[in-house]
Amino acid sequence: MSNKHSQDSLKDIERITVGHYESRADVFWTGTRDHDVSQNVKALLQALPQGKALDILDFGCGPGRDLLTFKNLGHRPTGLDGSESFCKMARKHSACPVLHQQFLQLELERGVFDGIFANASLFHIPSQCLPNVLSQFRQALRPEGILFMSNPRGNDEGWNGQRYGHYIELEQYTEYLEQAGFKVLDHYYRPEGKPREEQPWLAIVSQIM
Ligand SMILES: C[S@@+](CC[C@H](N)C(=O)[O-])C[C@H]1O[C@@H](n2cnc3c(N)ncnc32)[C@H](O)[C@@H]1O
Repeated sequence: MSNKHSQDSLKDIERITVGHYESRADVFWTGTRDHDVSQNVKALLQALPQGKALDILDFGCGPGRDLLTFKNLGHRPTGLDGSESFCKMARKHSACPVLHQQFLQLELERGVFDGIFANASLFHIPSQCLPNVLSQFRQALRPEGILFMSNPRGNDEGWNGQRYGHYIELEQYTEYLEQAGFKVLDHYYRPEGKPREEQPWLAIVSQIM
Protein backbone atom coordinates (compact mmCIF):
# COMPACT_ATOMS: atom_id res chain seq x y z
CA MET A 1 0.00 0.00 0.00
CA SER A 2 1.24 3.53 -0.75
CA ASN A 3 2.14 6.21 1.78
CA LYS A 4 -0.09 9.25 2.15
CA HIS A 5 -0.02 11.55 -0.88
CA SER A 6 0.34 15.32 -0.63
CA GLN A 7 -2.41 17.57 -2.09
CA ASP A 8 -0.20 18.26 -5.13
CA SER A 9 0.37 14.58 -5.69
CA LEU A 10 -3.39 13.88 -5.44
CA LYS A 11 -4.03 16.56 -8.08
CA ASP A 12 -1.45 14.92 -10.36
CA ILE A 13 -3.01 11.48 -9.83
CA GLU A 14 -6.42 12.80 -10.84
CA ARG A 15 -5.15 14.87 -13.78
CA ILE A 16 -3.05 12.05 -15.25
CA THR A 17 -5.66 9.31 -14.73
CA VAL A 18 -8.54 11.34 -16.19
CA GLY A 19 -6.20 12.58 -18.93
CA HIS A 20 -5.53 8.98 -19.91
CA TYR A 21 -9.25 8.33 -20.47
CA GLU A 22 -9.74 11.73 -22.12
CA SER A 23 -6.99 11.04 -24.66
CA ARG A 24 -8.55 7.75 -25.77
CA ALA A 25 -12.25 8.40 -25.28
CA ASP A 26 -13.32 7.07 -28.70
CA VAL A 27 -11.21 3.91 -28.40
CA PHE A 28 -12.61 3.28 -24.89
CA TRP A 29 -16.19 3.57 -26.20
CA THR A 30 -15.55 1.15 -29.05
CA GLY A 31 -13.88 -1.31 -26.68
CA THR A 32 -16.48 -1.22 -23.89
CA ARG A 33 -19.84 -0.30 -25.43
CA ASP A 34 -20.83 -4.00 -25.70
CA HIS A 35 -19.52 -5.13 -22.29
CA ASP A 36 -22.18 -7.13 -20.51
CA VAL A 37 -22.58 -5.69 -17.01
CA SER A 38 -26.21 -6.79 -16.67
CA GLN A 39 -25.32 -8.82 -13.54
CA ASN A 40 -24.14 -5.59 -11.88
CA VAL A 41 -27.14 -3.52 -13.02
CA LYS A 42 -29.43 -6.25 -11.69
CA ALA A 43 -27.56 -6.42 -8.35
CA LEU A 44 -28.19 -2.71 -7.73
CA LEU A 45 -31.83 -2.73 -8.88
CA GLN A 46 -32.74 -5.88 -6.93
CA ALA A 47 -31.69 -4.20 -3.69
CA LEU A 48 -33.95 -1.18 -4.36
CA PRO A 49 -37.75 -0.80 -4.24
CA GLN A 50 -39.43 -2.42 -7.25
CA GLY A 51 -42.03 -0.98 -9.62
CA LYS A 52 -41.05 2.68 -9.41
CA ALA A 53 -38.71 5.01 -11.28
CA LEU A 54 -35.52 5.51 -9.28
CA ASP A 55 -32.94 8.29 -9.19
CA ILE A 56 -29.57 6.67 -9.86
CA LEU A 57 -26.11 8.23 -9.95
CA ASP A 58 -23.76 6.49 -12.40
CA PHE A 59 -20.46 7.43 -10.76
CA GLY A 60 -17.66 7.45 -13.33
CA CYS A 61 -20.19 6.84 -16.11
CA GLY A 62 -17.64 6.95 -18.95
CA PRO A 63 -19.31 7.31 -22.37
CA GLY A 64 -22.77 6.40 -21.06
CA ARG A 65 -23.44 2.72 -21.78
CA ASP A 66 -25.08 2.06 -18.40
CA LEU A 67 -26.95 5.38 -18.28
CA LEU A 68 -28.84 4.23 -21.34
CA THR A 69 -29.55 0.83 -19.76
CA PHE A 70 -31.01 2.40 -16.60
CA LYS A 71 -33.02 4.87 -18.66
CA ASN A 72 -34.42 2.11 -20.90
CA LEU A 73 -35.50 0.27 -17.73
CA GLY A 74 -37.64 3.29 -16.78
CA HIS A 75 -35.31 4.96 -14.26
CA ARG A 76 -33.89 8.49 -13.98
CA PRO A 77 -30.11 8.12 -14.14
CA THR A 78 -27.61 10.96 -13.80
CA GLY A 79 -24.02 10.48 -14.92
CA LEU A 80 -20.85 11.88 -13.39
CA ASP A 81 -17.38 11.79 -14.89
CA GLY A 82 -14.16 13.81 -14.85
CA SER A 83 -13.48 13.45 -18.56
CA GLU A 84 -15.13 16.20 -20.57
CA SER A 85 -15.22 14.03 -23.71
CA PHE A 86 -16.94 11.20 -21.81
CA CYS A 87 -19.50 13.66 -20.39
CA LYS A 88 -20.32 14.88 -23.92
CA MET A 89 -20.50 11.33 -25.29
CA ALA A 90 -22.64 10.16 -22.37
CA ARG A 91 -25.11 13.04 -22.88
CA LYS A 92 -25.25 12.26 -26.59
CA HIS A 93 -25.69 8.49 -26.16
CA SER A 94 -28.24 8.62 -23.35
CA ALA A 95 -29.83 12.09 -23.32
CA CYS A 96 -29.41 11.95 -19.52
CA PRO A 97 -27.99 14.72 -17.34
CA VAL A 98 -24.25 14.23 -16.78
CA LEU A 99 -22.22 16.11 -14.15
CA HIS A 100 -18.67 17.03 -15.08
CA GLN A 101 -16.97 16.58 -11.70
CA GLN A 102 -13.68 15.19 -10.41
CA PHE A 103 -13.93 12.42 -7.80
CA LEU A 104 -11.66 14.27 -5.38
CA GLN A 105 -13.69 17.49 -5.61
CA LEU A 106 -17.22 16.15 -5.57
CA GLU A 107 -20.17 18.48 -5.12
CA LEU A 108 -23.15 16.18 -4.77
CA GLU A 109 -26.56 17.38 -3.63
CA ARG A 110 -27.77 15.84 -0.39
CA GLY A 111 -30.47 13.17 -0.31
CA VAL A 112 -31.25 13.10 -4.02
CA PHE A 113 -30.39 9.53 -5.15
CA ASP A 114 -31.99 6.16 -4.42
CA GLY A 115 -28.95 4.29 -5.68
CA ILE A 116 -25.35 4.85 -6.75
CA PHE A 117 -23.78 2.65 -9.43
CA ALA A 118 -19.97 2.80 -9.30
CA ASN A 119 -18.89 0.37 -12.00
CA ALA A 120 -15.09 0.16 -12.41
CA SER A 121 -14.57 3.67 -11.09
CA LEU A 122 -14.01 3.78 -7.31
CA PHE A 123 -10.66 1.96 -7.51
CA HIS A 124 -9.18 5.03 -9.23
CA ILE A 125 -9.54 6.96 -5.97
CA PRO A 126 -6.41 6.93 -3.79
CA SER A 127 -7.36 4.93 -0.68
CA GLN A 128 -6.66 7.89 1.63
CA CYS A 129 -9.54 9.74 -0.13
CA LEU A 130 -12.04 6.86 -0.03
CA PRO A 131 -13.54 7.75 3.39
CA ASN A 132 -14.43 11.23 2.19
CA VAL A 133 -15.97 10.00 -1.09
CA LEU A 134 -17.99 7.29 0.68
CA SER A 135 -19.29 9.76 3.22
CA GLN A 136 -20.34 12.06 0.37
CA PHE A 137 -22.18 9.09 -1.19
CA ARG A 138 -23.94 8.53 2.11
CA GLN A 139 -25.12 12.13 2.20
CA ALA A 140 -26.22 12.06 -1.45
CA LEU A 141 -28.36 8.96 -0.91
CA ARG A 142 -31.90 8.91 0.44
CA PRO A 143 -32.72 6.79 3.52
CA GLU A 144 -32.19 3.08 2.75
CA GLY A 145 -30.20 4.08 -0.33
CA ILE A 146 -28.02 1.48 -2.03
CA LEU A 147 -24.42 1.71 -3.20
CA PHE A 148 -23.20 -0.76 -5.82
CA MET A 149 -19.47 -0.97 -6.58
CA SER A 150 -17.40 -3.22 -8.78
CA ASN A 151 -13.61 -2.97 -8.69
CA PRO A 152 -10.54 -4.98 -9.62
CA ARG A 153 -9.38 -6.60 -6.38
CA GLY A 154 -5.98 -7.35 -4.80
CA ASN A 155 -3.57 -5.95 -2.29
CA ASP A 156 -1.77 -3.08 -3.96
CA GLU A 157 -1.96 0.61 -4.74
CA GLY A 158 -0.20 2.72 -7.33
CA TRP A 159 0.22 3.36 -11.03
CA ASN A 160 -0.76 1.00 -13.81
CA GLY A 161 0.64 2.91 -16.78
CA GLN A 162 -1.08 6.30 -16.68
CA ARG A 163 -3.91 5.20 -14.42
CA TYR A 164 -3.71 5.24 -10.66
CA GLY A 165 -5.62 2.62 -8.68
CA HIS A 166 -6.05 0.91 -5.34
CA TYR A 167 -6.74 -2.82 -5.25
CA ILE A 168 -8.23 -4.25 -2.06
CA GLU A 169 -10.34 -7.20 -0.98
CA LEU A 170 -13.77 -7.55 0.62
CA GLU A 171 -12.55 -7.27 4.22
CA GLN A 172 -10.94 -3.88 3.66
CA TYR A 173 -13.86 -2.54 1.62
CA THR A 174 -16.18 -3.68 4.40
CA GLU A 175 -14.17 -1.65 6.91
CA TYR A 176 -14.27 1.47 4.72
CA LEU A 177 -18.00 1.02 4.09
CA GLU A 178 -18.90 0.47 7.74
CA GLN A 179 -16.84 3.46 8.82
CA ALA A 180 -18.77 5.58 6.31
CA GLY A 181 -22.15 4.32 7.57
CA PHE A 182 -22.95 1.50 5.11
CA LYS A 183 -23.62 -2.18 5.74
CA VAL A 184 -22.64 -4.82 3.18
CA LEU A 185 -25.70 -6.70 1.88
CA ASP A 186 -24.10 -8.89 -0.76
CA HIS A 187 -20.94 -9.47 -2.75
CA TYR A 188 -19.76 -11.61 -5.64
CA TYR A 189 -16.75 -12.11 -7.89
CA ARG A 190 -16.60 -11.76 -11.66
CA PRO A 191 -16.58 -13.11 -14.30
CA GLU A 192 -19.31 -15.54 -13.22
CA GLY A 193 -18.62 -19.26 -13.13
CA LYS A 194 -14.79 -19.14 -13.07
CA PRO A 195 -12.41 -20.32 -10.32
CA ARG A 196 -11.63 -17.53 -7.84
CA GLU A 197 -8.10 -16.96 -9.18
CA GLU A 198 -9.66 -16.15 -12.56
CA GLN A 199 -12.13 -13.67 -11.04
CA PRO A 200 -10.26 -10.34 -10.79
CA TRP A 201 -13.42 -8.28 -10.12
CA LEU A 202 -15.17 -7.87 -6.77
CA ALA A 203 -18.73 -6.49 -6.70
CA ILE A 204 -20.29 -5.25 -3.44
CA VAL A 205 -23.86 -4.15 -2.71
CA SER A 206 -24.20 -2.05 0.44
CA GLN A 207 -26.91 0.00 2.11
CA ILE A 208 -27.04 3.05 4.35
CA MET A 209 -27.19 1.99 8.00
C1 LIG B 1 -12.71 2.12 -16.11
S1 LIG B 1 -13.65 3.53 -16.52
C2 LIG B 1 -15.29 2.95 -16.19
C3 LIG B 1 -16.36 3.65 -17.00
C4 LIG B 1 -17.76 3.06 -16.90
N1 LIG B 1 -18.28 3.10 -15.57
C5 LIG B 1 -17.78 1.64 -17.42
O1 LIG B 1 -18.12 0.71 -16.67
O2 LIG B 1 -17.46 1.46 -18.60
C6 LIG B 1 -13.32 4.66 -15.18
C7 LIG B 1 -14.05 6.00 -15.30
O3 LIG B 1 -13.74 6.80 -14.18
C8 LIG B 1 -13.43 8.12 -14.61
N2 LIG B 1 -12.46 8.67 -13.64
C9 LIG B 1 -11.31 8.11 -13.21
N3 LIG B 1 -10.73 8.88 -12.28
C10 LIG B 1 -11.53 9.96 -12.13
C11 LIG B 1 -11.49 11.12 -11.27
N4 LIG B 1 -10.50 11.31 -10.41
N5 LIG B 1 -12.50 12.00 -11.36
C12 LIG B 1 -13.52 11.82 -12.23
N6 LIG B 1 -13.61 10.76 -13.06
C13 LIG B 1 -12.63 9.84 -13.00
C14 LIG B 1 -12.84 7.96 -15.98
O4 LIG B 1 -12.93 9.14 -16.75
C15 LIG B 1 -13.65 6.80 -16.53
O5 LIG B 1 -14.82 7.25 -17.16
